[in-house]
Amino acid sequence: MSLLDDLADVGRAPGGGYARHGFDRAETEMREWFREQAGRRGLDVETDRNGNLWAWWGAPGPDALVTGSHLDSVPGGGAFDGPLGVVSALAAVSRLQDNGFRPARPFAVVVFAEEEGGRFGVPCLGSRLLTGALDPDRARALRDPDGTTLAEAAASAGVDPRHFGRDDIALGRIGTFVELHVEQGRALDVPVGVGSTVLEHGRWRFSFTGQGNHAGTTILRDRRDPMLPAAETVLAARKIASTMDVRATVGRLVPHPGGTNVIPSTVDLWLDARGNSREVVAELTEAAQRAAAAEGCAVTVIEESYGGTVTFDTALRDRLTGLLNAPELPTGAGHDAAILAAHAPTAMLYVRNPTGISHAPEEFAEDADVEEGVVALTRVLEALST
Ligand code: GLV
Ligand code: MN
Ligand code: MN
Ligand code: MN
Repeated sequence: MSLLDDLADVGRAPGGGYARHGFDRAETEMREWFREQAGRRGLDVETDRNGNLWAWWGAPGPDALVTGSHLDSVPGGGAFDGPLGVVSALAAVSRLQDNGFRPARPFAVVVFAEEEGGRFGVPCLGSRLLTGALDPDRARALRDPDGTTLAEAAASAGVDPRHFGRDDIALGRIGTFVELHVEQGRALDVPVGVGSTVLEHGRWRFSFTGQGNHAGTTILRDRRDPMLPAAETVLAARKIASTMDVRATVGRLVPHPGGTNVIPSTVDLWLDARGNSREVVAELTEAAQRAAAAEGCAVTVIEESYGGTVTFDTALRDRLTGLLNAPELPTGAGHDAAILAAHAPTAMLYVRNPTGISHAPEEFAEDADVEEGVVALTRVLEALST
C-alpha cells in the first residue's frame, strides 16, 4: 500500500480521477518511479524497442517468467487499474528476496506502455507493437487530441520511434506471463480469482460530415447537421447491442469546431464494442448511413483496433486455481495479457473490487485484499520459477 501511496498524487486530475497517458508527464514520472523502485531491489531496467520497461532480476534470458502490468490510466481513471499489477509485482519480488529465494529461470517485471489507449486511441499499444499486432508505421502516425504524434511523444520521452515494431528479442524471452489486476466489474466475491477468458472487443471511429453554419440564421430545412446522425447512432448502438447481448459504448464524441452557436461541420464519435462487436458494427454502420443520408450528411467508419476472444492457457489456469484454491472468472476488460496469450502461456490474477466500478475514481480494493493478491502472486511466481 505504501508503494501505491507513492503514486497517489501523480497525474491526479483536479476534478477527481487520474490522467496518466502514454509518454506524458505523469506516465513518465511513474516510469521513473518504477526504475527507482526496481533499482532498490537490485533489478536492471531495460527499455525495449517499443518503450516497454523490463526490470530483470538476474540476467535476461529465454523462457523467462514475467509479471507486471501498466502504469497509464484512462481519462478520469482509478488508482488501481494498471498500477496494482506493477506494485504487486515489486512487492512480490521483495517478499521472495526477503525469503532468500533465487529464481531458477530468468525473471522480469514488465511495464507496458499506453495500455489504455487513452492518448493515442489504440489500447495495448506497447504489447501490440511488441508482438507485431500493430503496424509500426501506423503507430508512429497516431495522433493525440492535441495533434501530437506518437512518434513525437515517444521521442520526447527518450524512446526512439524509428525502432518501433515486433521485437523478437524481447518477445522471444517471455516463457510465461502472469498479470495481476484489480477486478473491474462484479464478477469476484472472494479476495483473489484467476482469469479464464477476455471478451472479444474493438474500437471504431464514426466520422459524420455536414455543413458548418450559423445557429441563428440557418432555418431547420436548410441544415446539414452531423450532430443529428451522430446522436441517432448513439441510440442505435444501445438498441442493437441490447438485441445481441453485446456491450456497446460511446465514451467520446467530438463536434468540430465546437461552438455553441455553430452548427458543426463534422462530428467524430468512437464506439467501443465487446462480444460479437463486428456484427454490431455492421448493423450500426447501416443505421448511421441511413441517419446521415436523411440529414444530407456523409459518414465513414474506420476500425481502429480489434482483438478476438482470448482463452488463457488451460494448464496454467488449472495450476493456479489449484495452488491458490481460487475461482476462475471471465472478464470484459482488455489487458496486455490478452495480447501476449497468443505468444506464451499467460495467466491473470484478479483482486476483488468491492465497488464493482472501474475506469472511474470509485474503483477500489481493500488493503486486506491487496495483501492477499500480493501473497497469491508471490506463491505463483515462486511455484513457476522453481
Ligand atoms: C481497458 O482496460 C479496457 O478494457 O478498455
Ligand atoms: Mn483499464
Ligand atoms: Mn488495466
Ligand atoms: Mn485494460
